[in-house]
Parts: sequence; structure tokens; C-alpha cells
Amino acid sequence: MIGRTARAAALVLVSFGGTALAQDGGDSGAGLVARGRYLATAADCVACHTAPNGGRPFAGGYGIASPLGTIYSSNITPSRHGGIGGYSEAQFAAAVRDGVRADGAHLYPAMPYTSYARMTDADIHALYAYFTQAVQPVDAVAPQTKLPFPFNVRLSLWGWNMLYLDRTRFTPDPARSAEVNRGAYLAVALAHCDTCHTPRNVTMAEIGDRNLGGAALGSWVAPNITPDPVSGIGTWSADELYRYLKTGDVPGKAQAAGPMAEAIEHSFQYLDDADLKAIVAYVRQVPAIRDTADRKARDAYGAASDSDALVRGAAPDTLAHGARLFAGDCAACHRPTGQGSQDGYYPQLFHNTATGARTPDNLIAAILQGVDRTVAGRHVYMPGFSHGSYVDELSDQDVADVSNYVLAQFGDPSVHVSAADVARSRAGGARPLLARVDSYIVPAMVAALAVVLALIWLLVARRRPA
Ligand code: HEC
Ligand code: HEC
Ligand code: HEC
Repeated sequence: MIGRTARAAALVLVSFGGTALAQDGGDSGAGLVARGRYLATAADCVACHTAPNGGRPFAGGYGIASPLGTIYSSNITPSRHGGIGGYSEAQFAAAVRDGVRADGAHLYPAMPYTSYARMTDADIHALYAYFTQAVQPVDAVAPQTKLPFPFNVRLSLWGWNMLYLDRTRFTPDPARSAEVNRGAYLAVALAHCDTCHTPRNVTMAEIGDRNLGGAALGSWVAPNITPDPVSGIGTWSADELYRYLKTGDVPGKAQAAGPMAEAIEHSFQYLDDADLKAIVAYVRQVPAIRDTADRKARDAYGAASDSDALVRGAAPDTLAHGARLFAGDCAACHRPTGQGSQDGYYPQLFHNTATGARTPDNLIAAILQGVDRTVAGRHVYMPGFSHGSYVDELSDQDVADVSNYVLAQFGDPSVHVSAADVARSRAGGARPLLARVDSYIVPAMVAALAVVLALIWLLVARRRPA
């Protein structure tokens, strides 16, 4: 009895606590709409539902590349013509949490309904109020997704849902504090840290006992962020993690580029303090994961070092070449000593997770793609050294050489970068947010299709007289 009451109380806290907006919320009117707007930001609906280069907000048409073809996001403005103006709240809930459109067709899982399935009814209600009352209707119809047979048969996603869709709503764990429960809800149902930081098996299922244990994301790696002091971020204080999520920059530890920078720019920086702190509290108590290959925290490598000694000779050829490239292409901002600028705008390269990580992916990707992040009106920018940039374009071998120099001088010297590694990173491309769809969508859809075929076969076999 007591347990159930505590559970119910915790549920109320999770659904309505945490956000300042909730308090003036109520069940209707401006408060509800404001709460829906906040949730849409926390879940980053706009990132996928807005076309790049000036697309109208939520009018869809953002193409998510998959090896099967491009999957376009829908227009989710309240237009009756192009958007979801005709959706009832129940139909909206079915689309967001179950992946079923108003016409009954299944949505491709590029729409992250398997995460949103955790969302509470109260939050769906607020989102619906926001989308129907406060979003500008846009009549334009978003481009149609045309995948090849059999993936154009949306029924095949029925198999997908059997495999991957867990319809249980988020339920707070009474053994955890209200703050940790709120953080878990935000991290899993809305901000979905796990979709990037938890590895998946070949058929896309997240590997449960590796929660937040680190995963590859195209050219980038979303590192292990469990509280392990060696493999994870156990040496980070709560304030440092908070600062990282709010700004993307923790001097002497890490900067956010690529998909993490996007998540911070479009979503996390706008979360209110109580919610960000709740996420921090949640992340800091997930089970720690240690990988035996890690010897030292990735932010603990290297020291300031004057590159001139190496440029002058004594080093092997490629290192000397890397040193020359560093002096010409990097040192103006990061200083010859790798110390960065006094004000911290240009970060130090030692005690930096990009140079101390076991895999050099984020270092290579940062050199190729640069860093581009606007937080609280402040633009942080490093040019990428690939085609189309205003700075010198570096070849695969150049990037490998300068990386090896940076690793030897400021980072983990046992990590080595080859020209082939750089070519692979380039091929992974500058794909936004959903690069992750790429690698798993084909095997996963094949698996889902196999389930459907097996079921059809079973049905047919049963009908046939023995
Ligand atoms: C990671 C990208 C992504 C995010 C984030 C995302 N969506 Fe989607 N959404 C999609 C894609 C892609 C489709 C179209 C899928 C298809 O055609 O099968 C879609 C379809 C939909 C639809 C179906 C509309 C229709 O009739 O076709 C609704 C409703 C929707 N999204 C609402 C939301 C809401 C609300 C949020 C935020 C809580 C959100 N989406 C966040 C990618 C995303
Ligand atoms: C869209 C994918 C994506 C999402 C969503 C995401 N991350 Fe990340 N995260 C990354 C990537 C990629 C990096 C590496 C960025 C870099 O080094 O420039 C990263 C880096 C980090 C780091 C720094 C680790 C280090 O060693 O440098 C922390 C901490 C972190 N993320 C926490 C979170 C939390 C907490 C959430 C959820 C609230 C989250 N992330 C959501 C992709 C993501
Ligand atoms: C025009 C100035 C500039 C130049 C030139 C430059 N950088 Fe940067 N670099 C920056 C800025 C700004 C950041 C991001 C700071 C932040 O995120 O707060 C950054 C970040 C980085 C990071 C951290 C990225 C991450 O994801 O954690 C690495 C590593 C790095 N630079 C290496 C290099 C190397 C190697 C070169 C030369 C090939 C180089 N930079 C050239 C300005 C520059």
C-alpha cells in the first residue's frame, strides 16, 4: 500500500515536477502550451522536422540519409493541408509513441518513437496543445519518402515494432530520488542520451548492460559517460557535467563538436536548471562500465609542450611533417605549446578527451569537420580542414600526420592514425544528428522483415491441411 502511494507520488513529481514552467502550468491555456513548447525543445522535434537552409519550423522535408534511400520527415505544423491539422490528440499520441500515422500506416523508426514511447500522457497532452495552438501552420506538403521494395511496404515495420517497440510508459523507480527519476525520464524519453551513447547490436537493439557505455556514430564516437573514473567520466564533478551540457565546453577536459554540439545548441542549453541538474544526477548514478583497454582517464593525458624542438629535426619524418603542419595550421589558435588561448576560447589540446581517447575518431572528425556551436548567443568556431573550407584543405595523409603529432605531443602517444582512418572518417561524412540511423537501419529492417515473413509463413502453414 505504502509502496503504491510512494510510487504514485513519485509519478506526479516526475510528470509535473522539475520544470518551473509546470507550476504555472495548469491543464489548459498558456501554461500548458508553454510546457509543450519546452518539451518539444527537450525532445528536439525541430531538429528533424525542419529542412536545412531556411526551412519553415516543423514543416518537415529534412532528409535523413539511409543506405536504402532518403527518409523525409513529415510536416507536423497544424495545417490541414500539409501537416497534422486533422490529427486528434489520440492520433497524435499514436504517431509520437507508437509510430502509427493517422491513416494507419507505420512510420519509419527514423522518427524516434521507440524512445518517445516512454512519454507520459500528461506530456503528450502538453505537446499536442503546443503543436495545435502555437505552431505556425505551413501548407506545403513535405517530400515523399520512396524506399525500394520491400521497405516501401510500411507493414514490414510491424515486424520492427514486434522486435523493438516496448510500449511501457516511463515508471519512476521508488528506490531512486525524485530528482534521479526526473533525470532518467528526460535522458531516456526526451533527451535520449542513450540513443547516441549506448551501443547497439547488429539488429539495432540497444545493449542493455552497456547503458551509456559509448558507441560509434558515423565519423564520431559518443564516449562512455558512465561514472567509471577510468573509462567513463567518474572524475568529472557534477558542476563540470552540468557545464558541459549547458555550454559544450569544460576547460581542461572536453569540448563538444559534431552531433553533441548540435544536441547542446538546439536542445540542452534551453533546459531549465532543475532539469539539467536532474540529468546530471541520473547520469552520475548509472552503473559504471570499465573497459580493460583503458589505462587512464581520457582527460588526463599530455602536458603543455613546445613543438619547436620537433620541427627542428630529431623526429621521424612523418612526425616532423605533422609538426610543420601543426605550426602552420593549428598553432595560431591552439598555441605552439598546445595551451590554447588565455581566455579559453581556443582550448588546450592536452588534458582534452579528444586527444586522450582510446580511439582517435573525434580528433580526426574535429580536424576534418571543425567545431561550430552557438550557445547563449556566443559562436564557437574552428574551421574544418576538408574540401570547401576557407582554410587549407589537408589530404588524408596530412590529417594523419598532424593527428599523430598532436597525439604524441599532447595526447595518448600509443594511439596511431593512418591515412585509411582519415578516409573512413571522410566517408562517414558530416552527417547531422541522425548519422546513427545509417549503420543499423538496413540490418534492422531486414530482421524486421524476416519476422513478418516468418509470421506469414506460420499462418499459411497452419491453414494448410496437414
Ligand atoms: C530524429 C529525427 C526526428 C525527431 C527528433 C522527431 N521526429 Fe517526428 N518524424 C521523423 C521522421 C523521419 C518522420 C517521418 C517518418 C515516415 O515517413 O515514416 C516523422 C514523423 C512524425 C509524425 C507523423 C506525421 C505524419 O502524418 O506523417 C509526427 C506526428 C511526428 N513525427 C512528431 C514528432 C514530435 C512531436 C517530435 C518531438 C517530440 C518528433 N516528431 C521528433 C523524424 C523525427
Ligand atoms: C546526437 C547524439 C548525441 C546525443 C543525443 C547525446 N550525445 Fe553526448 N556526445 C555525443 C558525441 C558524438 C560526443 C563526442 C563529442 C566531441 O568529442 O566533440 C559526446 C560527448 C559527450 C560528453 C563528453 C565526453 C567526453 O569524454 O568528451 C558528455 C559528458 C556527454 N556527451 C553527455 C551526454 C548526455 C548526458 C546526453 C543526454 C542528455 C548526451 N550526451 C546526448 C553524442 C550525443
Ligand atoms: C581558427 C582557430 C583554430 C584553428 C586554426 C584550429 N582550431 Fe582547433 N579549435 C578551435 C576552437 C574554437 C575549438 C572549439 C572550442 C570549444 O569547443 O569551446 C577547437 C577545438 C579543437 C579540438 C577539440 C575538439 C573536440 O571535439 O573535443 C581539437 C582536438 C582541435 N581543435 C585540434 C585542432 C588541430 C589539430 C588543428 C590544426 C589542424 C586545429 N585545431 C586548428 C580553433 C581552432
